[in-house]
Amino acid sequence: MKKLGLVGWRGMVGSVLMGRMREERDLEGLDVTFFSTSQTGEAAPEEAGAGATLQDANSVEALAQMDIIISCQGGDYTKAVHPALRQSGWQGYWIDAASALRMVESAVIVLDPVNRKVIDDALASGVKDYIGGNCTVSLMMMALGGLFEQDLIEWISPMTYQAASGGGARHMRELINQMGLINSEVADLLADPASAILEIDRKVSAKARSADFPADQFGVPLAGSLIPWIDAQLDNGQSKEEWKGQAETNKILGRSAEPIPVDGLCVRIGAMRCHSQALTIKLKKDLPVADIEAILAGANDWVKVIPNEKEATIKGLTPTAVNGTLSVPVGRIRKLSMGPQYISAFTVGDQLLWGAAEPLRRVLNIVLG
Ligand code: HSE
Repeated sequence: MKKLGLVGWRGMVGSVLMGRMREERDLEGLDVTFFSTSQTGEAAPEEAGAGATLQDANSVEALAQMDIIISCQGGDYTKAVHPALRQSGWQGYWIDAASALRMVESAVIVLDPVNRKVIDDALASGVKDYIGGNCTVSLMMMALGGLFEQDLIEWISPMTYQAASGGGARHMRELINQMGLINSEVADLLADPASAILEIDRKVSAKARSADFPADQFGVPLAGSLIPWIDAQLDNGQSKEEWKGQAETNKILGRSAEPIPVDGLCVRIGAMRCHSQALTIKLKKDLPVADIEAILAGANDWVKVIPNEKEATIKGLTPTAVNGTLSVPVGRIRKLSMGPQYISAFTVGDQLLWGAAEPLRRVLNIVLG
């Protein structure tokens, strides 16, 4: 029986992963050990077996007993533990949600509906580190998988609309708190249909700008607004999130030496856990829209082409419609006035499912064979 160690299974991504693994019965037939950085010795979840306790996530010796480790504990943990574990001679599989190891030469970014061959080749050549991709990149690639597969893309410019959950659980709470405070500020005026809308707007704006408006997580108000910067500032004017678009897309495809240009602006909006992206794509050739739609729809079981019609779009292509599901709708597909090879597309995906947890549980099953 293979020994699987789970680290960071109680956080937001870890909880979504546990939920999916339970739904799919991934843990049956495995000897599961739950690790903790803070509660060693306390009772472990039932999958660990009767009477099992949490093991120390900082113990290289304990971790080294595992055949496979999945970590959702975050990048600092990975940086602290992974090198020590490898230096101890550990030869097991390390599956990780954090970005720390993504661009390391010896690691593979996993998104098997798109890069199963890259994963299979890596397994055959003895690669042991399998890392989940950036959520925005993974969701874009799930949506455009067919065009990548047929090498039809010359370049992509994604303009993103990223949910609060990308920042973390506390960011989601902050967003809802902000929404509630804004509503409370004008609740009496809202209740009166005769009240002046410009007065409501003035009060909302003053509240959001007030010194006591809670914005510790995002740094500035998000509710009723947006933030056109995600992650660190790089020297070339890109945000780190924007840099990941090209770097990770091409690494996932195994074509970093001959990269497809991917570049655009990443923007935080007040959605809960679905990232959306407006894509401008230059194709390598002029294809009819119906052919493009067929290529996209046929690529995997989760992508869903939404016809470029108003009703279908506003019902099916929004964060509210997609939240909590594995569906990756893509729509607004049309030729742009720049020329017949230029198309638009809009896609939405749950950044905790295909954007984080799902590729990890799937690569676990691939590794297990
Ligand atoms: N960096 C992403 C975001 C989430 O902030 O939305 C993790 O991939």
